[in-house]
Amino acid sequence: MSIRYIKETKQLILETKNTGYHMKIDQLGYLQHMYYGPKPGQDDMSYAFRYYDRGFSGNPYDKRYDRTYSLDSMPQEYTSFGVGDFRINSIAASCSDGSRCAEFRYVSHEIKEGKYSIPGLPSVYENCGKAQTLIVTLKDTAANIGIRLYYGVFEDLDVITRSAEIFNAGEEMVWLRKASSMCLELPYGSWDMMHFHGRHCMERQAERVKLFHGVHTLVSGRGMSSHQHNPFIIICDHDTTEDSGPCYGMMLMYSGNHKTEVELDQFESVRVVMGLNDDRFRWELAPGTSLNTPEVILSYAEGLTQLSHNYHRCIRNNVVKGKFKYSHRPVLVNNWEATYFDFNEEKLLQIAEKAADLGMELFVLDDGWFTNREDDNAGLGDWVVDTNKLPGGLESLISKVKAMGLRFGLWIEPEMISEDSDLYRAHPDWALTAPGRAPMMARNQLVLDLSNPDVHEYLYKTISGLLRDYDIDYIKWDFNRPISDVYSHATPSALQGEVPHRYYLSLYKLYDRLTSEFPDVLFEGCAGGGGRFDAGMLQYSPQIWTSDNTDPVSRLAIQYGTSFGYPCSAMGAHVSASPNHQTGRKTPLSTRGITAMAGSFGYELDLTKLTEEECAEIKEQIKRYKDVEPVVHSGLHYRLSDPSENKGYYCWEHVSEDKSRCLLSIVVTDPQANYTLAHVRLKGLDPNAVYSVGGEFECRGSTLMRNGYTFPQLTGDYPARQLDIIRI
Ligand code: DGJ
Repeated sequence: MSIRYIKETKQLILETKNTGYHMKIDQLGYLQHMYYGPKPGQDDMSYAFRYYDRGFSGNPYDKRYDRTYSLDSMPQEYTSFGVGDFRINSIAASCSDGSRCAEFRYVSHEIKEGKYSIPGLPSVYENCGKAQTLIVTLKDTAANIGIRLYYGVFEDLDVITRSAEIFNAGEEMVWLRKASSMCLELPYGSWDMMHFHGRHCMERQAERVKLFHGVHTLVSGRGMSSHQHNPFIIICDHDTTEDSGPCYGMMLMYSGNHKTEVELDQFESVRVVMGLNDDRFRWELAPGTSLNTPEVILSYAEGLTQLSHNYHRCIRNNVVKGKFKYSHRPVLVNNWEATYFDFNEEKLLQIAEKAADLGMELFVLDDGWFTNREDDNAGLGDWVVDTNKLPGGLESLISKVKAMGLRFGLWIEPEMISEDSDLYRAHPDWALTAPGRAPMMARNQLVLDLSNPDVHEYLYKTISGLLRDYDIDYIKWDFNRPISDVYSHATPSALQGEVPHRYYLSLYKLYDRLTSEFPDVLFEGCAGGGGRFDAGMLQYSPQIWTSDNTDPVSRLAIQYGTSFGYPCSAMGAHVSASPNHQTGRKTPLSTRGITAMAGSFGYELDLTKLTEEECAEIKEQIKRYKDVEPVVHSGLHYRLSDPSENKGYYCWEHVSEDKSRCLLSIVVTDPQANYTLAHVRLKGLDPNAVYSVGGEFECRGSTLMRNGYTFPQLTGDYPARQLDIIRI
């Protein structure tokens, strides 16, 4: 049993293999958060919380003579609002009488076998290993608003999921202004926060800060989970390292506007509230209806590496769906950086022919294959092949590509519309634009109003039509601008505040329909690179294009940051040309190969321009990738360097689950004369086994983990090495 109710103490306890999560229904019926961390057994953790009079923190009416009881200092599972908890709240609403407050008290709870699902939203599902569900119902009697708190307990994964369902139990309308998925309190300790910020071409840069008094807000209002702030944070002790120290991960499984608030309050207590972004949010909750919030994936571990392993395992096994979850991902060649918009069938076939010759498995035709798409100013919406570039249409190209023994993939950007398109001319009201206002343009395109059921149906017909008409094995689904001017012409004015979330409900439904109907097609997510790299998207697309920046040196930092929450199998990573098109940097082919092999591997350069030597090297890289892919995708990933220490290299390791094979990789970013050689302590090996180290020497696992490995001096521009460490 991973969920227990202890009647005598009114405790609700969730237990995973190594962690415990304790709640308590208190004397007034508030659901208190008592503890999350290493499994403490069934102790009543409320002993640590002292009630005392704290100035200027008021008391609920039932406790008016007892000034020691205040919501303003009490750790809670989901907060009330407007009734004296002056910290960040989980929810805000206004009622038809104009009141804006509610206090939620315990009504009932239910423990169920299996994992709950969330209507219309992606969520972690039960796979290998069992899960249980706890549902706690809270209610405010004056405003008649109720909340069902959902907890999914994945014992083997050391993961607890949370989501809230807010319902209107009264007879009057309620308008939600804020709807978070969870509130998590850390009442004791002093903490750092890690978050993953960035920009286009430099996503998910790891940053660690000491919490200050006040509220840290990490937010996306761009209509996408964003390049700027990934919906994932870690709260850890100041002394937490890769290998030790408490750390809590919180990941929102959502691809749209999100908000995470972390408050260090006046009493040194930390509260984290995570969920839908409340900026311009307004949800009309009619009597009898409810709103489900996106899921948060929580995990606690000792050491950042273990925390990452918990997330990697959960995403690989219990988030990603479909046949590509565990299977080999085809080594692809994408024509984008080879040709951009300037191609014809002949040029594409030359690239494909070379790709087949080098051992690649999938040819991907990127942007520019449809009518009126000479550049990125027009054409989105009309998904009809441009017969000037492809006279025989897609059929001819696909059959020729397939005759070479390659699979075929196609780029689409279905959520967008160009003003210069037949679709826009026929349905200008299908674009998100505010009345009487010229919209912001980005890449000279607009966003389709996916909250409109007609648009949803049009996209379903268009994409399923392409997949039915052509022999397509892979889809790259792009999204190349933030969403602004959010106004749906199909939605009454009073409901405009629902449009951003309804957009994502519709997008998830579309993905769900397409992936169910076409299970053999591999979908790769993309949003100008990694602008929508989140667990919501990963439910449908097992891999996501990590960044538009293909420079291997920039990629080191991007992949490093991404690896804290997401597995290597999720990161699309390609070898591109040198000098790199984004940074102009020159790097060796081997460095580009080693960096891209830490993800789902492919190529993105004009293969027809390669020298004989480069072709020979690429053939070897592909053989090598196919050989190491199972270790990279299914093994355990260890970060062996910390960029904040400025050692001038990135080093990482993949170890197979059975510890028989270890892949050690290093890229030197700053080679220096007469410098200290890179030395790393290996991790995750079998201490009692003997390993062959790159064929160089043999050594016990325990020795390699204690005494480490010293790389030879690596010189030149961005040199890299990859080493096999094999158990003998
Ligand atoms: C942005 C993507 O991230 C690129 O890889 C490429 O597909 C372009 N869009 C095409 O417009």
